[in-house]
Amino acid sequence: MRKLSLTGAAGQSDILIGRGLLGEAAAQCAAVFSPSRIHIVTDTNVAPLYLSKLESQFDVPVSHTVISAGEEHKRLSTVETIYHDLLANGMTRKDLILALGGGVTGDITGFAAATFLRGVALCQIPTTLLAQVDSSVGGKTGVDLPEGKNLVGAFYQPRLVLIDPDVLSSLPDKTFSEGMGEVIKYGCISNPAILEMCAAPDYKQNIEDIIYECVKIKRDVVAVDEHDTGLRMILNFGHTIGHAAEKLGNYVDLAHGEAVAIGMVAAMRLSNQMGAPVDHVPMLTATLQNAGLPTELKYDREAIYRALLSDKKKFGGTVNFILVRELGKAEIVPIEAEELHRLLLKI
Ligand SMILES: NC(=O)c1ccc[n+]([C@@H]2O[C@H](COP(=O)([O-])OP(=O)(O)OC[C@H]3O[C@@H](n4cnc5c(N)ncnc54)[C@H](O)[C@@H]3O)[C@@H](O)[C@H]2O)c1
Repeated sequence: MRKLSLTGAAGQSDILIGRGLLGEAAAQCAAVFSPSRIHIVTDTNVAPLYLSKLESQFDVPVSHTVISAGEEHKRLSTVETIYHDLLANGMTRKDLILALGGGVTGDITGFAAATFLRGVALCQIPTTLLAQVDSSVGGKTGVDLPEGKNLVGAFYQPRLVLIDPDVLSSLPDKTFSEGMGEVIKYGCISNPAILEMCAAPDYKQNIEDIIYECVKIKRDVVAVDEHDTGLRMILNFGHTIGHAAEKLGNYVDLAHGEAVAIGMVAAMRLSNQMGAPVDHVPMLTATLQNAGLPTELKYDREAIYRALLSDKKKFGGTVNFILVRELGKAEIVPIEAEELHRLLLKI
């Protein structure tokens, strides 16, 4: 088991990474918290797989809420259901909330923990690769509104994050691949050794090491920019064009992770046009394909440009673009809309 710590404005967050950690969750929680009660939030897919294994470990009363799986349930009404269950089970500010699930469960539960009685201790137990390398670390919590994603939320650090790579064995292949998009992103923006690990045919054998390297980067970025006012933006590498592609596919043709994969290749092509000395597109493409991800931007570039600017509400202005001109070094580069239009037509 390996440990990373993040010191945020509100205190320390410990992140433990190791196979079999789910089976030691109660012992790890006992080292950090002393609750009288525990409430677990999980979703309808994860509950039958891991809820009883977690719940049965504690010697204080444990209750749970099983929310419906899926992004469409990441909304305020789900948070309200959790509040009612917390009250019905007598949870107080001295107790502990556990989030057991993917990024959707983690974001919703984190928001419920941040706001219930103005804040109850939180432990994240992420069960998707995306949640393990990204969403469970860093304290961003929240829900969607009909007007858009993640429009309501709070920065609220979990005191403890327990990352058990063994739980990834039950993930559908497509969901695992989507998480690999975020993993490969870390390789591009900060540590090319991750890309080498991911390019190996049997990379899944090293997933624990890969997760550790990714979490270390996320921890370091959040430590500098906890509230997302600057450096944290580099974590959006590939997301700008990715979001535009997702939108053009009506959020049906491409899953989020697939759109990010395509967006990273496009952003790497832009980086070439903006003076990258070495062309990393072939390596990135091969690495993404090895992880089962698409790489080709199939949409008309003019449509991408329009979707991108409407997303950023930046017609006529500049767009802060994340470029990787040197592998492992992300840069936030403001690009004039007209210049971006010209460059996009060439990728
Ligand atoms: N807070 C942050 O910093 C941050 C960062 C990135 C993404 N996010 C958010 O994360 C969400 C996406 O997260 P996600 O990709 O984990 O989606 P998700 O939570 O919907 O999980 C994907 C699917 O996998 C299922 N699942 C989860 N763990 C499983 C397991 N071990 N075995 C089998 N099935 C399992 C889930 O039920 C779901 O159907 C989005 O809402 C996004 O906004 C947040």
